[in-house]
Amino acid sequence: MITKLSVNLNKFATLRNSRGGNNPDVVKAAIDAQNFGADGITLHPRPDERHIRYDDVHAIRKVIYTELNIEGNCREQKFIDLVLEIKPHQVTLVPDSTNQLTSNHGWDTNLHKNYLKEMVSTFKAAGIRTSIFIDPDISMIKAAADTGTDRVELYTESFAKNFVNGPDQAIAVYLEAAKMADSLGLALNAGHDLDLLNLAFFSKMIPQLKEVSIGHALICDALYFGFQNTIQMYKRQLAHS
Ligand code: PXP
Repeated sequence: MITKLSVNLNKFATLRNSRGGNNPDVVKAAIDAQNFGADGITLHPRPDERHIRYDDVHAIRKVIYTELNIEGNCREQKFIDLVLEIKPHQVTLVPDSTNQLTSNHGWDTNLHKNYLKEMVSTFKAAGIRTSIFIDPDISMIKAAADTGTDRVELYTESFAKNFVNGPDQAIAVYLEAAKMADSLGLALNAGHDLDLLNLAFFSKMIPQLKEVSIGHALICDALYFGFQNTIQMYKRQLAHS
């Protein structure tokens, strides 16, 4: 199984929003990303719409023929309504607070188990696959399994940070988390701070990984290498089976 690459387009929207107008065009970016080999598109609409706007999600839905993953804060009714209307292939539940710069922690699935259970069943009843963003923590994985979610997305910020000092140590806790997820029948995604230096190692060590969603580093690399080349470079990091 080759891990799928879902390209997060929020940075395109951030750049566009910095000037007004429609440059770069995020709908075109979605079409291009797919044509350039992305296996999916991730959109993260935030309540203040400072990156991807709700309108963008509607427009991009129409041009998606690969996987669409919408991630965000399901405490916002607006987010729930959007996801139920758009019906993406997957919704990733992220515990962002309103003005957070970027996601910086996973759900406490023990504390919020009943709430997450309700959200998971709402989205699954609409035929949408669910994933819960969590830290690589055994107790969080166990509680996530109790919610009935299809997948969990492992928050890889600490892996990326520690990778430079020692890849084996950086990944140890993720290997334990992956083993526990497997044993509970939870499929695995991963994301945050993955890049051309650390991605191949992570995906080689966790070959059962279904999908990575990558935004910041991929778009930064695209400034130097071009969007098409960069997507192919990231895909090559995942193609080692
Ligand atoms: N996964 C989640 C839940 C996120 O919130 C983000 C950032 O929006 C990512 C993955 C992608 O992280 P990065 O932009 O560092 O690649």
